[in-house]
Amino acid sequence: MLVLGIESSCDETGLALYDTARGLLAHAVHTQVAMHADYGGVVPELASRDHIRRLIPLLESVLTQADVVKTGIDAIAYTAGPGLAGALLVGASFAEALAVALGVPALPVHHLEGHLLSPLLAADPPEFPFIALLVSGGHTQLMHVAGVGRYELLGESVDDAAGEAFDKTAKLLGLGYPGGPALAALAEQGRAGRYRLPRPMLHSGDLAFSFSGLKTAALTVVRNNELSATDKADLAAEFQEAVTEVLAAKSVSACRQRRLLALVVAGGVGANRRLRQRLDAEMAQLGGRVFYPEFELCTDNGAMIAFCGAQRLLQGAVPAGRDGAFAIRPRWPLDQFS
Ligand code: KG4
Ligand code: ZN
Repeated sequence: MLVLGIESSCDETGLALYDTARGLLAHAVHTQVAMHADYGGVVPELASRDHIRRLIPLLESVLTQADVVKTGIDAIAYTAGPGLAGALLVGASFAEALAVALGVPALPVHHLEGHLLSPLLAADPPEFPFIALLVSGGHTQLMHVAGVGRYELLGESVDDAAGEAFDKTAKLLGLGYPGGPALAALAEQGRAGRYRLPRPMLHSGDLAFSFSGLKTAALTVVRNNELSATDKADLAAEFQEAVTEVLAAKSVSACRQRRLLALVVAGGVGANRRLRQRLDAEMAQLGGRVFYPEFELCTDNGAMIAFCGAQRLLQGAVPAGRDGAFAIRPRWPLDQFS
């Protein structure tokens, strides 16, 4: 079964072709980073318009890469939420229209489920059950994953997501959008420990997170000091230490509590090198292992959506009827995740 995946929930347009027998055949992503950079963040209307421009060329590109024709597509999976309403609508209407034209089913996919399953696309995938740390721009969650569609939320951020905290703190330090990678790069030049930032909820005894206080603590340092370039790098390093220490500690706790030795990390912050170092070291101490998606599949992409849709269809998911009606879910609640 050949599944076309379409991702357009935020500032990346991603398309991919996944074949249930042959694996990932092609994927292509267009990132809008350069377009939004002038505004310091994602402008939703510009995002939607750009998705419209990119979808057809990207479709052509994956078909060429995979050396298949449109009529070879058996099903279409698309991100139906959560995300920006306009951006989701573009991908959803494109997917649904193409599905009608080709006479194939279209399946709405939860963006976070896509991230969650993305490490299964790696050369050496984990086996169920595992603990998943989902760290994207909008979510920070620990899940117990027993199988496709069998997810139990163990803990999440009570306020800002880790990625959001990275982005906001980057802004405070005068770094551009997207802030996370920029802050991480600056942190590599700095020395942690010179400034002392809190480790929020490190000892809370549960698996919840909180990152908005950390951002405020960084703001206080910025306000009260005239920071040199070196000072900024040191503050960035300390911030990264604080976030990654809490993420790693709670991920390991989740594994201990559930007596599992496999930890999966997904979402954009999963690209953070310091986070990976810490998780690898701490899970090794436990006798366990960390599984990551292929590097290029850490951030938003169509491959994870195609793969997730394929797994769902293999499980017997029934796409909605072909009456032309569909819905996007910008705030898709987690309890309806499975
Ligand atoms: O999963 P993703 O691509 O999009 C969402 O679904 O949100 O995650 C984007 C988030 C942003 O907040 C970005 O700043 C963060 O991931 N990010 C990073 C790094 N690369 C991306 N944060 C820290 N270090 C990185 N290297
Ligand atoms: Zn994402």
